[in-house]
Amino acid sequence: MKIVFATNNRHKLEEVRQILGTNIEVLSLKDIGCDADIPETGQTLEENALQKARYVNDHYHIGCFADDTGLEVDALNGAPGIYSARYASLVSPTAKAHDSEANMARLLGELGENNNRKARFRTVFALIEEGEGGHTPAERCFEGIVDGQITRQRSGAAGFGYDPIFQPDGYDRTFAELGAGIKNQISHRARATRKLADYLLSKKQQPNQTQ
Ligand code: IMP
Repeated sequence: MKIVFATNNRHKLEEVRQILGTNIEVLSLKDIGCDADIPETGQTLEENALQKARYVNDHYHIGCFADDTGLEVDALNGAPGIYSARYASLVSPTAKAHDSEANMARLLGELGENNNRKARFRTVFALIEEGEGGHTPAERCFEGIVDGQITRQRSGAAGFGYDPIFQPDGYDRTFAELGAGIKNQISHRARATRKLADYLLSKKQQPNQTQ
């Protein structure tokens, strides 16, 4: 079975390929010759992930999945959420998207001395399977969550994004201190990937079963 993961992020591709094993061939956007800047204009992670998956399915007529991730902080009413990648750039014209230092600085500033530091990373994968026999392609979402706390200062050098200020529940170190070995077992993305993998692998084992 071949399926497209609507990303060119090498780290994400490797993680997903590792969990899916050799049974399912995961193609990147580059592999299918797609270099479009796929629009992401939804108001939720689900809408954004579906938008990306639909774009690929509409243009390339192949089964596809796409992801979107956000950091949701309780005391900030769920912000930065869908704006996680460009949180700082929303208020500072000099900050670029994916500027992790600027994003963390804004988040720590917004939280200030607030003692409620509860937060979670949430990943949504949207899967579109090619419709068989002229049927409309089926759409499904898979969610992965890791709960934790926003620390008061940055710690650790591993990982990316908000990792130096996110301490997952049950641990006394940030994702950036815990490193990939632990993070990839418990992360939002790993959890969502395993749900997607379980679904795809179960379908592969029972190809004639209607879901
Ligand atoms: P994306 O949807 O995976 O591109 O994630 C959007 C933004 O969320 C990224 O630019 C990062 O700022 C943040 N983010 C996503 N996953 C992680 C993670 O595992 N650790 C830290 N930050 C993350």
